[in-house]
Amino acid sequence: MPAIGADWSSIVFRVKDSVDIVDIISEYIPLRKTGNNFVGLCPFHSEKTGSFSVNQDKQFFHCFGCGVSGDVIEFIKMQERVDFKDALAKLAYRAGIALPSFQDSFIGAIANINNDATDFFKQSLKQSNIPLEYLKKRGISKRSIDEFDIGYSTSLWNDLTQLLLKKYSKESLIKAGISVIGKDSKIYDRFRSRIMIPIKNGKMIVGFGGRIITESDQAKYLNTAATEAFNKGKLLFGLEKAKDGILKSDYAVICEGYFDMIALYENGVSNAVATLGTALSAFHISKIKRLTNKIYFCYDTDEAGLKAMIKLIPLLIKNEVIGKVVRLTPGDDPDSFIRKNGKESFLRKIEKAEDAFDFWIKSEKNGAVTVSEKSIIWKKIAPVLNSVEDIRIREMLSERAGQLIGVPYTRAYYAKKGTEDQKHTDSEKAEKIILSLILSYRTFLDKIDKETASCLPARINRIVSILFENRDLELSEIMMMLDKDDSDVLCIAASEHSAVPVDSKKATDLFDECINYYKMMRNRMDRALLIKRIKSVAEQGKPVGDLLKEQQDIIKR
Ligand code: UTP
Ligand code: MN
Repeated sequence: MPAIGADWSSIVFRVKDSVDIVDIISEYIPLRKTGNNFVGLCPFHSEKTGSFSVNQDKQFFHCFGCGVSGDVIEFIKMQERVDFKDALAKLAYRAGIALPSFQDSFIGAIANINNDATDFFKQSLKQSNIPLEYLKKRGISKRSIDEFDIGYSTSLWNDLTQLLLKKYSKESLIKAGISVIGKDSKIYDRFRSRIMIPIKNGKMIVGFGGRIITESDQAKYLNTAATEAFNKGKLLFGLEKAKDGILKSDYAVICEGYFDMIALYENGVSNAVATLGTALSAFHISKIKRLTNKIYFCYDTDEAGLKAMIKLIPLLIKNEVIGKVVRLTPGDDPDSFIRKNGKESFLRKIEKAEDAFDFWIKSEKNGAVTVSEKSIIWKKIAPVLNSVEDIRIREMLSERAGQLIGVPYTRAYYAKKGTEDQKHTDSEKAEKIILSLILSYRTFLDKIDKETASCLPARINRIVSILFENRDLELSEIMMMLDKDDSDVLCIAASEHSAVPVDSKKATDLFDECINYYKMMRNRMDRALLIKRIKSVAEQGKPVGDLLKEQQDIIKR
């Protein structure tokens, strides 16, 4: 850490206090909540299983795989390969804390530029009747104008740019995505004659959405150019305001437009966010998942809205999100709907929302009756079902899909790739399930007798034998007694604790199912080996009677 004076250490403290390490790290890698921690794939070494853990209480990260650890500043330093000063600047910028002497750091003065631009736009709006009329007509109240810092960019070509040039360099204005270089190599305002809506990430204004107010051949919406801070695929409009509402209601409403989000908020629906004209991404989902795992999609009721919705479903399933499809009256969007009908009607639509999975399968089914029609649908959805990590969820979804398509459910319908690769991952999954079940239900150790143990992977046996010595060991104590690989696998299994059924009957069934899986695999392997031996003995012209009897015994097992 560089030598910093007392002032700086208080700024460092304030910055760290104003950002959440989980928020920040989630912008780089998807994190999954497990117990008190968040886990993900370590960005600092290559791995297939998540040993990278982030502790929200302590605001600290640690990788059980490669051993790196530190606070949020350390993370940015390593991730962005920058020094302490730049890492701090980046976070300060994010937290909306001004660091005057850091103007020249790599993010330039984007935050300050956007703040100044916002003030300018707000000022312009106060003096312009047409945009004020427009907002009024759209039902945007004075309160919302203030609350969302809505403004207006004038019709002049470079009044904002000229103003900002007094404080910032040309390069910073371009880098901030607010000014552009024209064909004549002169610098101009990017936005003209548009309602300006600031878009925040945390407390920091990272960019703008600008809407035209009179019909023209210009694009209806224009955003800040992509910058280091402005990435549409990672931002959700209104998240800062909706955070508490989402936590409280335990669901999030996703809509398409700024005005949808604002209208919902203004009418008392305070858990809505909007994407910025892009599809919902895995990043968006991981951001929302830290607040809730229920997402209500409130897209336009037109064809395009439905299509966008359907496209998303595999992503929801893969991320284990509970998705619901809200169907407003045709022709309406959340904005027009809530203005016409009010909050209560909107909440009734929320209540009636259909499960996204059902919605998807039904729309894929679309009247299929014959076996060949149904098999085409199955082919289409099987890869999505396959993408579900958790075999229990995969089974449930497969069963439900079977019901909806109208094929009787049998185990054969489980989506399964049937390749060596799949066998490998099935075995890994069964291993994790057995370990996590043993961690939750130590009595299951009694089910592992000598014969059973001989079928199980060596790793399970190593861990089980430690627990046989002392059943009350805590996870961390067990981990200390294992080598790195074993300890990693156990850690992952433990992090999936939450997926273990609470119902002990269900847990027992699941445990037995996994044990039986290994017994079956063992049996298969024994048989294959024996067949080889029989062949080679027969080739040598020796009697195979005993071996054949052995084979019969194995088959009977
Ligand atoms: P639409 O083009 O469908 O706008 O983009 P809309 O909902 O009809 O717009 P209004 O209601 O007439 O104002 C959907 C939303 O995507 C965002 C805007 O929030 C827009 O409302 N968007 C679209 C952007 O942020 N940037 C874009 O370039 C395009
Ligand atoms: Mn709209």
